[in-house]
Amino acid sequence: MIANDFIPAPYNFEAGSGEVTWQAPSNIAIVKYWGKKEGQIPANPSLSFTLDKSLTETRMSWEPKKAGGVSFDFFFEGKEKASFRPKLEQFFDRIRPYQPFIESFHLTINSSNTFPHSSGIASSASGMSALALCLTHLERQISEMTEEHFNRKASFLARLGSGSACRSIEGPLMSWGEHRDIKGSSDLFGLRYTEPLHDIFKDYQDTILLIDKGSKKMSSTAGHQLMHGHPFAAERFSQAHRHIAELKPLLATGDLEAFIFLMEREALTLHAMMMTSDPYFILMQPATLEVINKVWEYRRETGTPLGFTLDAGANVHLLYPADNKDEILKFIEAELVAYCENRQYICDRIGFGAKKL
Ligand code: DP6
Repeated sequence: MIANDFIPAPYNFEAGSGEVTWQAPSNIAIVKYWGKKEGQIPANPSLSFTLDKSLTETRMSWEPKKAGGVSFDFFFEGKEKASFRPKLEQFFDRIRPYQPFIESFHLTINSSNTFPHSSGIASSASGMSALALCLTHLERQISEMTEEHFNRKASFLARLGSGSACRSIEGPLMSWGEHRDIKGSSDLFGLRYTEPLHDIFKDYQDTILLIDKGSKKMSSTAGHQLMHGHPFAAERFSQAHRHIAELKPLLATGDLEAFIFLMEREALTLHAMMMTSDPYFILMQPATLEVINKVWEYRRETGTPLGFTLDAGANVHLLYPADNKDEILKFIEAELVAYCENRQYICDRIGFGAKKL
């Protein structure tokens, strides 16, 4: 598919009013998206686990208005949020060619998260995908589309808001970006991963240690830009292709040892890219490193398959099979909560995608 396939045919519609609510999850990438080209096109393919409990719920209502520009009000947790407007205005500008009808409505958007905003857990992913789903729902009111096209269109729009958001529509795993070994994979939208998946991953756990809930020192968007001209960029992008090819059989056989090595190598490569860009920066905190060392020590001593990954922040995602949950939660309580801000962590697990409420 090409981007023009997402421009709807001219339609005739009576603009009415209505409302819809969608709940969309966050996601955690195993193979990371870091670096992009013009038009929100990823520099390399990525693969993520969809989460279950870290959600954004967005209610959008619409009322007819005279065409001419996009008009919207945005409320976050019940309060008007001026600081979110620039990102939303940019989003609406980008999606206008693909949803020209939005100019015929005034939109009221009410959003809330089940997790702390800017905790480093990807609120832009769940937020942008929930909004994209509401907008695609509105489009479906005025022009028919198949379920498959609905999901692709929502993912396509979400990508224009935030790249990783296009992987938050379905689950339990999503890929985004063209890859030789993933049939139908696209740079334009996220695709549900339909390759063989071992049962061990079907209820995989993700406990997110909130090391530093303060707003990030460097936004992901700015970080991606620093991959342009980065001395290690070309090698990193081909490594991501290789990692996806290597991951496929591990996901099929449930080889956790190799899975964990690959996942941790991805996380550390992501941060290595940050530490070697110009300007360089570090998003890990001392507590992030303490946790990583404790996890390695615990794994060495007990043989328990506990691994970590990181996003563009200091928080640590601990991934492990559901069968090991009790012992790992005991270890977290005994050894790791001390490194969390206000001893906070979120117990999440792999999830199955967004839901209309
Ligand atoms: C480190 O999707 O937040 O989480 O497209 O500029 O909105 P924009 O960036 P964003 O980048 C997320 C990068 C990452 C890795 C990943 O989720 O793949």
